[in-house]
Amino acid sequence: MFIENFKVDSPNVRYGEEAIEAVYHYETTELVHENREGDYQWVVKPKTVGYDFKTDTRVPKLGVMLVGWGGNNGSTLTAGVIANKEGISWATKDKVQQANYFGSLTQASTIRVGSFNGEEIYAPFKSLLPMVDPNNIVFGGWDISDMNLADAMARAKVLDLVLQKQLRPYMESMVPLPGIFDPDFVAANQGARANNVIKGTKKEQVQQIIKDIREFKEKTKVDKVVVLWTANTERYSNVVVGLNDTVENLMASLEKNDAEISPSTLYGIACVLENVPYINGSPQNTFVPGLIDLAIQRNSLIGGDDFKSGQTKMKSVLVDFLVGAGIKPTSIVSYNHLGNNDGMNLSAPQTFRSKEISKSNVVDDMVSSNGILYETGEHPDHVIVIKYVPYVGDSKRAMDEYTSEIFMGGRSTIVLHNTCEDSLLAAPIILDLVLLAELSTRIQLKAEGEDKFHSFHPVSAILSYLTKAPLVPPGTPVVNALSKQRAMLENILRACVGLAPENNMNLENK
Ligand code: NAI
Repeated sequence: MFIENFKVDSPNVRYGEEAIEAVYHYETTELVHENREGDYQWVVKPKTVGYDFKTDTRVPKLGVMLVGWGGNNGSTLTAGVIANKEGISWATKDKVQQANYFGSLTQASTIRVGSFNGEEIYAPFKSLLPMVDPNNIVFGGWDISDMNLADAMARAKVLDLVLQKQLRPYMESMVPLPGIFDPDFVAANQGARANNVIKGTKKEQVQQIIKDIREFKEKTKVDKVVVLWTANTERYSNVVVGLNDTVENLMASLEKNDAEISPSTLYGIACVLENVPYINGSPQNTFVPGLIDLAIQRNSLIGGDDFKSGQTKMKSVLVDFLVGAGIKPTSIVSYNHLGNNDGMNLSAPQTFRSKEISKSNVVDDMVSSNGILYETGEHPDHVIVIKYVPYVGDSKRAMDEYTSEIFMGGRSTIVLHNTCEDSLLAAPIILDLVLLAELSTRIQLKAEGEDKFHSFHPVSAILSYLTKAPLVPPGTPVVNALSKQRAMLENILRACVGLAPENNMNLENK
């Protein structure tokens, strides 16, 4: 059964005027230590830690500024939200299609609340805590191409023409602000669209971005802004001692107009200085150590990297399933071809390399979780190929071959072929990223023994479900397995309303 929403009735939970407060018992395991005597190698102690959660329930009017607003993702997301907001439907050759938010975790997935009269009850994911309604988001942003959003939507060739016609009047007046462009960081073929760029030194460019954010806030009367990079994939920046390894060195390099600070890092510096959450949807190392430290110093949310939309999402499910089933993946080969501007940009070796790195590490945690299948340091062969094929446009092809060793030396080979519009996968993920980033800035927590509430660590690991190469606080483990990432997010939000984690035990029925 499906219910729209629910409220928790518990002595541990208080719904106030402006906040939901929850007292929570976090069940975990005590530091394990090696046991040199006896039959058991290690000792593990169960442990309960008390937590207080406080979630501000005043949902702000949210402004979202996209870097690369006029790109395929930016224009598709903007169009999709307008279509939903205006209740637009359009005729396709199959049926009359209604606008929807399919593919969005927050808007189109559900959580199990419990059972009632023997029936499982599910509610929307978004009903866990008060979240911004995507229909109320005000969009803005930057692009190095000055094309208005209606023309950008046509250039992207993603949405049906009949729908585009209806959306055009809403989007014609939306024009991206000039962006920071540096041809050294993207493929040479991108220069042709750069007719809308911020001039000046890198420091002046950062100052311009700060000014743009302030003016956008002022003009649209939004309470909060989130900035998200959905512009071209850049090459990796060199991380060099003295250049960008510390806050001081990064800021000094900015003063010196150092060539090695990438545009995506410049937007990041501006956002962190303005205390505006900044999320990187592309694979490059925008978050150089100096920028991560700056975000930590200023407690300003950063998240990334690289939207986990199609092939990698599948990989983080399939390899988790195989390794979890005691099957040993030994070779994973992923081919892609695509014909959109992203594909054209990725045809240069330096930008392709960023994508290759981001896609490569996704099975690491699953492989290292199973010492029965893999020796220390052993890895499946993992190869990634991306080719630019203009004809297929945004309709990306992904072909994957997984070969595994099974019982008694047997081999199992699974082959997948996926054809899908890339931007229709990415747009709902962008939505989830900004909605969850905003929500997480309203959550405060306090573990027993701590005297003050604080926010989550500014490096936002709870966004991991949505990213290919999750950025996590320095020194903490990266989790790529999709089901674990989803459980982490759902269970943390459940904790905020005093609900136990979803453990699927169903003891009441056993
Ligand atoms: P796109 O090429 O259509 O859009 C990027 C836009 O950014 C363009 O309009 C370009 O003019 C603009 N731009 C480039 N550099 C800029 C800068 N420095 N400042 C402001 N604007 C700038 O690409 P698309 O398909 O929208 O993808 C965007 C990014 O998202 C790419 O890096 C892609 O790798 C990444 N991504 C996309 C996924 C998908 O499923 N669509 C999945 C994972 C990542």
